[in-house]
Amino acid sequence: MTSETYFSSIEQVEEELAKAHYIADRALATVIFLAHRLQKPLFLEGEPGVGKTEVGIIMAKLSGAELIRLQCYEGLDASTALYEWNYPKQLLHIRLEEQERRGKEEIERRIYGPEFLIKRPLLEAILGSNDRPPVLLIDEVDRSDEEFEAFLLEVLSDFQITIPEIGTMKAKKRPMVVVTSNRTRDVHDALKRRCLYHWIEYPSFEKEYRIVTTRLPRIEEHLAKQVAHFMREIRTVDFLKKPGISETLDWANALITMEKRQLDERVVRETLGCILKYQDDIKRFTEEIWANGGRRAEFLQGAEKNG
Ligand SMILES: Nc1ncnc2c1ncn2[C@@H]1O[C@H](COP(=O)(O)OP(=O)(O)O)[C@@H](O)[C@H]1O
Ligand SMILES: [Mg+2]
Repeated sequence: MTSETYFSSIEQVEEELAKAHYIADRALATVIFLAHRLQKPLFLEGEPGVGKTEVGIIMAKLSGAELIRLQCYEGLDASTALYEWNYPKQLLHIRLEEQERRGKEEIERRIYGPEFLIKRPLLEAILGSNDRPPVLLIDEVDRSDEEFEAFLLEVLSDFQITIPEIGTMKAKKRPMVVVTSNRTRDVHDALKRRCLYHWIEYPSFEKEYRIVTTRLPRIEEHLAKQVAHFMREIRTVDFLKKPGISETLDWANALITMEKRQLDERVVRETLGCILKYQDDIKRFTEEIWANGGRRAEFLQGAEKNG
């Protein structure tokens, strides 16, 4: 099976992802299927911890392709993302070549050869390391500057780059591209237009319950339901940092380790650090929510209400 024809239906995408322990709802499965079929980049946006990065990782795993990851950050520039010349190696080589008394032109021709080129993620993705096009994960693009975004737009338009000393290189097969953003700032429309766009919401009760039981099969059903309900409740409060799915999984795992079969007031207080990571949020939770008997009951009665 080649990666271009790997998925033949949306249902198959859902099934294959579930087999890889990733729970996707219909809308996400659809956009993945289309990105794959239309060979368009996939742009995933959403709060931290809702499962954006994992889509890129799983896509590579499922299609047996190499995963090339470009983590974006402020100040990331084209050369760091694309290629650089290996100056120390070039300098060393120039010295050796001078000893051999070679001419300037010949030395120059030699030191701008492929063995002096340091390939960064974007160039690697364009060149592809084998027959199967890689999956290029451009993670947290909202952290990079707008100039970098413009440059990215160019690369994603034709998957072609020109290195003045070597020439133009073009991807034989387009890599599958997954771009993610935590929306700490708005990403330009032009970039989004190049891509299929999907906003990943915080999971529903059902989805989070499935994620917990899929990832942590040892968990008691009742506890998994309580955890999923609790997480949904806690995300209705506007904390500095709302917990994502990583926090849910960390917490559920901690509860299993403590051999808990259900939530109670005390264990929530004791394990709050798994879910809330800011002292202000913890304080607020303890004082405004946990001190209130009615609210406490709402958080803890999940299993009855939903199960
Ligand atoms: N739909 C899902 N099914 C299974 N696990 C998930 C799902 N969404 C998120 N996770 C898990 O939650 C964690 C956070 O996901 P991640 O992709 O890093 O989030 P993001 O990139 O949106 O910040 C990872 O451990 C991931 O495996
Ligand atoms: Mg991420």
